[in-house]
Amino acid sequence: MQYRTFNRTNEPVSLLGFGTMRLPRLKNGNIDETEAIKMIRTAIDNGVNYVDTAYMYHDGQSEVVTGKALKDGYRKKVLLADKMPAWFAKEEADIEKIFNEQLHRLEDQVIDMYLVHNIDKDIWKKVKEYNVLAFLEKKREEGKIKHIGFSFHDDFDFFKEIVDAYPWEFCQIQLNYMDKDFQAGIKGLDYAASKGLQLIIMEPLKGGKLTDILPESVEKYWAEADIKRTPAEWALRWVADFPEVLTILSGMSTMNQLEENIEILSDALPHSLTEKDHQIINKVSTEYNKLIKYSCTGCRYCMPCPKKIEIPAVINFYNEWFLYNGNDKIKADFKTWIPPKRRPSACISCNACQNHCPQSLPVSTIMGKASEIFE
Ligand SMILES: NC(=O)c1ccc[n+]([C@@H]2O[C@H](COP(=O)([O-])OP(=O)(O)OC[C@H]3O[C@@H](n4cnc5c(N)ncnc54)[C@H](OP(=O)(O)O)[C@@H]3O)[C@@H](O)[C@H]2O)c1
Repeated sequence: MQYRTFNRTNEPVSLLGFGTMRLPRLKNGNIDETEAIKMIRTAIDNGVNYVDTAYMYHDGQSEVVTGKALKDGYRKKVLLADKMPAWFAKEEADIEKIFNEQLHRLEDQVIDMYLVHNIDKDIWKKVKEYNVLAFLEKKREEGKIKHIGFSFHDDFDFFKEIVDAYPWEFCQIQLNYMDKDFQAGIKGLDYAASKGLQLIIMEPLKGGKLTDILPESVEKYWAEADIKRTPAEWALRWVADFPEVLTILSGMSTMNQLEENIEILSDALPHSLTEKDHQIINKVSTEYNKLIKYSCTGCRYCMPCPKKIEIPAVINFYNEWFLYNGNDKIKADFKTWIPPKRRPSACISCNACQNHCPQSLPVSTIMGKASEIFE
């Protein structure tokens, strides 16, 4: 495993971090706890020392399972990251309630890396209204958290404003070779680094979209490379190439993915991709951008839908329809996997989903278009 140094403490941080937003699931949708614990512990046994969870992942169960995985001596081997979802609070007192609930779920007393979660313009207003930062400083003084950072999903100008608004100790942005100019993007990475902030990267594989859809045109570009790599390897190495990156969170869902990502990040040094590698990656990125209609990463921040529509799955089918030239198999899969009561025609355009989408997707419009194709 490669390690980079956290500039606040000089601690080594593994280049692969474990994101617990996409843990393996059972058929009923609950986390497959046994497998998830095995995966988190295998990661730590192989040198991973950064584990990222949040209040809302897996409807609160991510924190619980992460807490269980970190028992039996594993907790002291990692930096544990968790986040304050200010948008869940209805009044200032809720901030403390949420924080206490997190410690309770994790069965822990200290959170090392604590982030203000998912900052965008609306959430930032709530952070100020409910004095979240003063609360976190108090918790830091009490020793309940060690470092204060933020995760971000808005545009570059607002990113600069947030970086400058507070003496943060680190920050977390979405970055992959398709999103280099999206949200904070590479400009944001450079700006944060110029202010001494190292970057935690989320969605390096665009939530799996850069690995699970491999159109022929993309495959053709990868084949041009001198060294043959899997799509996951290309995407992770692209992020690892930036020395400003402290750790790359991947939300691994299977043991095989974990094993592959450990291996990839065991020798990914900064600036190690060649000029030709970058040219190929740019061609792939342009091709995906042409093919993918709506850039959903399947993060599920839009859920639950009041009409119970399976929003991320519907958007995925919609994208696949175009990626595979309107293949009837996609229609058949839609009918098999999306039960009648969870289909897009139920959308009432309430936009509860849209307000929470980190990618700012026009969800109700997409539901209308998907309904026309599939229903
Ligand atoms: N703070 C925030 O606002 C925020 C937002 C988003 C994420 N996060 C954090 O950042 C973490 C990372 O983001 P992410 O989960 O979107 O990461 P990601 O690495 O972009 O996506 C993870 C998905 O990629 C696929 N994958 C991973 N390794 C693979 C491999 N070797 N080969 C093939 N496919 C592979 C899997 O999808 P399939 O199995 O479906 O193919 C997996 O579920 C999250 O888990 C979460 O902890 C934070």
